[in-house]
Amino acid sequence: MKQEISTTKTGGHTCPWWLLFTFDNPLRRLVHDPQKILRPYVKPGDTVLDVGCGMGFFSLGLAELVGKDGKVIAADLQEQMLAGLQKRAENAGMFERIQLCRSTPDDIGVNEPFQFALAFWMLHEVRRPDLFLQKIHRLLVPGGQFLIAEPLIHVSGKLFNQTVLLTENTGFHIVDKPKLRASRAILLGR
Ligand SMILES: C[S@@+](CC[C@H](N)C(=O)[O-])C[C@H]1O[C@@H](n2cnc3c(N)ncnc32)[C@H](O)[C@@H]1O
Repeated sequence: MKQEISTTKTGGHTCPWWLLFTFDNPLRRLVHDPQKILRPYVKPGDTVLDVGCGMGFFSLGLAELVGKDGKVIAADLQEQMLAGLQKRAENAGMFERIQLCRSTPDDIGVNEPFQFALAFWMLHEVRRPDLFLQKIHRLLVPGGQFLIAEPLIHVSGKLFNQTVLLTENTGFHIVDKPKLRASRAILLGR
């Protein structure tokens, strides 16, 4: 039986751009090292998706990992987030590897295939996780992987388990349950 996630349990609150600086700051690297977390899943030349990218804390790490022949599609609802990411990427000389994409609440706005997708600390904000997961499943290439990490402080074990069930009902299979600090995480395969 298909497990539904109520839109009242996830979604409805979007992290405002000014709040992002409370955790997306230089100290965050001590907790979340993008290279260390993502290197096992990404190789040079890949096209990857960072959905709910915020100001690109992970997009920049991904851009290093995909190299000059790869591409990072960075998607977010908020223009301020994408503008912040653009500035950071230009300063780091990485902007030509990054394609910005403005999402809407019910459509990530991406229509090209990718080998890897990341949804870091964002899925609990999505109003229709069922549609969201279906879209990612459709675009992820067969054999591709999708890493979801949710913040411990906002997402209970119960809600996270419901999310995992929903991913399985969407057609993903569980590859691993990586240990990420301050997070609940699942690595999915297609
Ligand atoms: C808590 S922030 C995390 C940002 C980033 N992933 C990080 O770890 O630094 C969540 C982000 O997800 C974005 N977001 C929320 N719902 C979204 C949706 N349906 N589609 C795309 N982005 C979304 C918000 O605008 C916000 O930038």
